[in-house]
Amino acid sequence: MCGIIGYVGARSAGEIIYRGLENLEYRGYDSAGVALVGEQLAIHKRAGEVADLTVPADETATCGIGHTRWSTHGPPTDINAHPHVDCAGEVAVVHNGIIENHEALRDALDGCEFVSETDTEVIPHLLEQEVHDGASLTDAVASVAQAIEGSYAFAVVHAGENAIVATREQSPLVLGRGEDGMFLASDIPAFLEHTREVAYLEDGQVATITADDIRLGGNASSTSPTYETVEWDADSAEKGGYEHYMRKEIHEQPQALRQTLSERIDLNRGTVAVDLDFPTGYLDSVEEVQFVAAGTSYYASRYGARLLEELADVRTSVTIASEYEFGGGRDPWRTLTVAVTQSGETTDTLEAINSAGQAGARTLAVTNVIGSSVTRSVDDTLFIKAGPEIGVAASKTFSSQVTTLGLLAVAIAHERDTLPRSQIRRLLGDLNGLPGAIQQVLDEEDAVRAVASEYLDMDAFFFIGRELGYPVALEGALKLKEIAYVHAEGFAAGELKHGPLALVTGRTPVIALLTNGAQPAATTHNVAEAQTRGAPAIGIVAEGRDVEHLDVEFTVPSSGLFEPLVGNVYLQLLAYHIANQLGRSIDKPRNLAKSVTVR
Ligand code: G6P
Repeated sequence: MCGIIGYVGARSAGEIIYRGLENLEYRGYDSAGVALVGEQLAIHKRAGEVADLTVPADETATCGIGHTRWSTHGPPTDINAHPHVDCAGEVAVVHNGIIENHEALRDALDGCEFVSETDTEVIPHLLEQEVHDGASLTDAVASVAQAIEGSYAFAVVHAGENAIVATREQSPLVLGRGEDGMFLASDIPAFLEHTREVAYLEDGQVATITADDIRLGGNASSTSPTYETVEWDADSAEKGGYEHYMRKEIHEQPQALRQTLSERIDLNRGTVAVDLDFPTGYLDSVEEVQFVAAGTSYYASRYGARLLEELADVRTSVTIASEYEFGGGRDPWRTLTVAVTQSGETTDTLEAINSAGQAGARTLAVTNVIGSSVTRSVDDTLFIKAGPEIGVAASKTFSSQVTTLGLLAVAIAHERDTLPRSQIRRLLGDLNGLPGAIQQVLDEEDAVRAVASEYLDMDAFFFIGRELGYPVALEGALKLKEIAYVHAEGFAAGELKHGPLALVTGRTPVIALLTNGAQPAATTHNVAEAQTRGAPAIGIVAEGRDVEHLDVEFTVPSSGLFEPLVGNVYLQLLAYHIANQLGRSIDKPRNLAKSVTVR
């Protein structure tokens, strides 16, 4: 979704902001623009790709703001692109989120000339009035923030002032302190190549950013932000020789999982530490663990919920975040509600977890992004530690989410004393073996590429699985839809005969999870049902398991209940290579965004 970048310092703002816009592209956008500060503002903006935007090389500005827009109010046109300016062209604004009362504000701004269809444009006109009445830019932003309603983050520059003023409400903004300038962005990868020292702006805070300092709050009582150093390095947000971020991120999974697992399991003692401050006895008394999530995180939650039921004997439910308000939160006071969200910024998920917390549930976030909005809304946070994921379609974060939920399930099982120690040790051994098992699958990439070319022109793909194989079937189908634009569906294997079988032909490969944890014997029958109707069958099969008559067989190294997760790596590679051979825009699929900050 929309992205913000800002820089003020000693270097060329045009160059730094342009590069920042490229780094923000992965969030998904349809227009881009910059405002550079001089005695007059220089605005360059247009619909289309960042590559279509020209910032003149002779720009000498050292302060400016930039934006990638994902249209909500008004189509992607040059005029609707940000920045937006006031009547005199002296105040420029970039904005993420939605101003819910923009129509009323527009009506009240009598005499102002509006040129765009955006909700954003009310902000520069409101600011113009404040500045005209003598307010400093900082005070003007604080005052306008009181007048607007909704979830938003916006940044402002004023002609002749080398400063950026920004504020937020439920939409992320990160500050960066570099050696030769200060930064502001929607997320860290935008400026990671310049600094790793970051601070997170809180809801309602106003930041005033100058070349050598950032202050929070009004002029009279301002404070310094609290900076922390992020572990991510610039290379981890670069392509590193890969053609696409997604392929790089698929290949990073062994390393990502080592991070996820590091310092959390003790194989010698057979213990797991997830560092959660639950009150004593809480996990024994909790009656239900309820997950809320969207997209790939929803499938990771379904995998995690099944592990919790199986291992820790806890009742679970998994609700699509945008459906939570329609009866998702029964008995909240007896429930642990877990928001699973790699970005920590998905509006649907934030709204669900906030309402669970307000109703009395204890809340936990499982996320990848330190300082993200969800971490401020919940009682506890468990980080999945996957490192930055730039490809819009989630890959390594799915694996790290499931692994983290596996750790949580084992920790809760231990606390509730539901498993013998020998089984806990075996589970920890399986978790510890995941990086190696996934590497073995990655080593089969050439074989997957060949299968991708063989089945490239099929009509549709059906993914089937049982138990832990079912969420993986759903995720496998989602990946193919998202990046290859090919019709794909995931089904519970037993449901094939209750409807989808009518769609099966010789041009609809059926891809089946036939691993441990996925009830392979029963699913094998469903594969046969499809093959009898002519469908090619691709099996993701447990090592040592004999399945007859498969057209293609991919072997999954032994990993117990995590075999469907390891098998999913084949499905990621298959989706990637089909998409690549079809020439799709893999890292930025059409119509999709990485961080979905609207309802
Ligand atoms: C978007 C992304 C998906 C992602 C979903 C949930 O739709 O394109 O890849 O799974 O949001 O995102 P979250 O950050 O909450 O995990």
